[in-house]
Amino acid sequence: MTDLAGNQLLLEIVYLIASALFILSLKWMSSPRTARHGIWAGELGMLLAIGGTLLHHGIVDYKWIVIALVIGSGIGVPLGFVHMTAVPQRTALSHAFGALCVTLVGTAEFYLRTPNVPPFMMSVLSMEVILGSLTFTGSLMAAGKLQELLPQRPITYKGQNFVNLFFLAIAIGLAVYLVLHPGARQVFPFMVVIPLIFGVLMIIPIGGADMPTVISLLNSYAGLSAAAMGFVLDSKLLIIAGALDGSSGFILSVIMSKAMNRSFTNVLFGAFGQVQAAAAGGKEEKTVRSATAEEAAGILAAANTVVIVPGYGMAVAQAQHKVRELYDALTKRGVNVRFAIHPVAGRMPGHMNVLLAEADIPYDKLIEMDDINGDFPQTDVALVIGANDVTNPAARTDQSSPIFGMPILDVDKARTVMVIKRSMSPGFAGIDNPLYYLDHTLMLFGDAKAFVNSIVHELAGNAH
Ligand code: TAP
Repeated sequence: MTDLAGNQLLLEIVYLIASALFILSLKWMSSPRTARHGIWAGELGMLLAIGGTLLHHGIVDYKWIVIALVIGSGIGVPLGFVHMTAVPQRTALSHAFGALCVTLVGTAEFYLRTPNVPPFMMSVLSMEVILGSLTFTGSLMAAGKLQELLPQRPITYKGQNFVNLFFLAIAIGLAVYLVLHPGARQVFPFMVVIPLIFGVLMIIPIGGADMPTVISLLNSYAGLSAAAMGFVLDSKLLIIAGALDGSSGFILSVIMSKAMNRSFTNVLFGAFGQVQAAAAGGKEEKTVRSATAEEAAGILAAANTVVIVPGYGMAVAQAQHKVRELYDALTKRGVNVRFAIHPVAGRMPGHMNVLLAEADIPYDKLIEMDDINGDFPQTDVALVIGANDVTNPAARTDQSSPIFGMPILDVDKARTVMVIKRSMSPGFAGIDNPLYYLDHTLMLFGDAKAFVNSIVHELAGNAH
């Protein structure tokens, strides 16, 4: 066997192992028990994929590769240290970089190969470039909205959907033209620029609350464009990794849409969030009952069953370790404590699971929404810690509410509801929460970490 053939065989084996690791990674990440293994498998797979690619016989000089690796690591390492609440926008940025790379590779391949680009190759190359371009600008817009660098509210105008679809149709038309006339070098830049504009236009009418769903959809597009690039570069690894990325992103979007009771068309064209301004505007004065940490501790100590409902505020306050102390203090007293997990609580899928796992709260105490909702009427205390929208009963009862139809945790059905938050400010959807004005609701005003800490102290004091 020649050196070249040996190298090629080694490369194929490395790619095969990397592909298997990517598949195992996704499988393991679907359960909190095995999620850490999933991350390691994914990292090892990526390391093998990059290391293996460096053996590629086509590489004539490592200088530019090393420069790119240094620059990429310089950007990537700090991005890995962002606060967990900023992970959605960080993820959007990663998609933008990936999509830019795919677009640039597609562009280079076109100009290297034209006019000898067979129809199938030109089709996948067009798909690569169109999806890559629109994902690049779309992801930058999504990151900008989530980071609040751009307005979160949907920006709409008459005939907007028509204009957007028109841009997409032109891009597809250009792709068809290039498949028929692959020598038309001057047409190619338009097939790049028009989807770039479409990416911006596509995100403008989408409200901040829908951004996570859109980001996972863009994840799916980035994956599909990478799979298309795999066909162009004849790389099975890219085809497999891109297809995994594309399908898992799509499945995640479906799960998130379901959790918010929205259809895809509604997410993409519904301008959700538009009505919110009006809904939030007409607030009337209503009274709430508040309680101290001492009173809250007394109520919790007297309860048999407590369901803790964590939300975004727990993440902001980094209160998970104090919540663990509260869990310990209550279970020591014989109180049955469980956690109710809403699929879109916090700011990213699995946000609450990750935080509670970090504080070593047993997994079997984390109960999904559908499994715990039936138990609220028999629950003595529902303790809401920094959650708001995911507990808003208006989603069940008020047809005019922008979140009407979104499945929520039925905390209002518990015998007593206690809500830890700092003020009466609304949550992500920007709307008032009728839960706070119910007779059996007590507001515990304060920072989640500090307030839970005070309750734990009170419970410790009572124990002696
Ligand atoms: P939110 O409805 O956003 O409410 C969070 C509440 O936490 C706020 O009302 C805030 O009230 C309180 N808070 C903030 N900092 C706090 C602190 N230090 N201590 C105590 N409380 C604090 O959160 P949620 O109920 O978790 O719902 C999530 C929302 O985000 C949904 O609308 C969902 O659609 C959306 N969303 C979800 C995701 C995913 S995938 N999970 C991604 C993006 C958006 P105060 O200011 O009064 O304290």
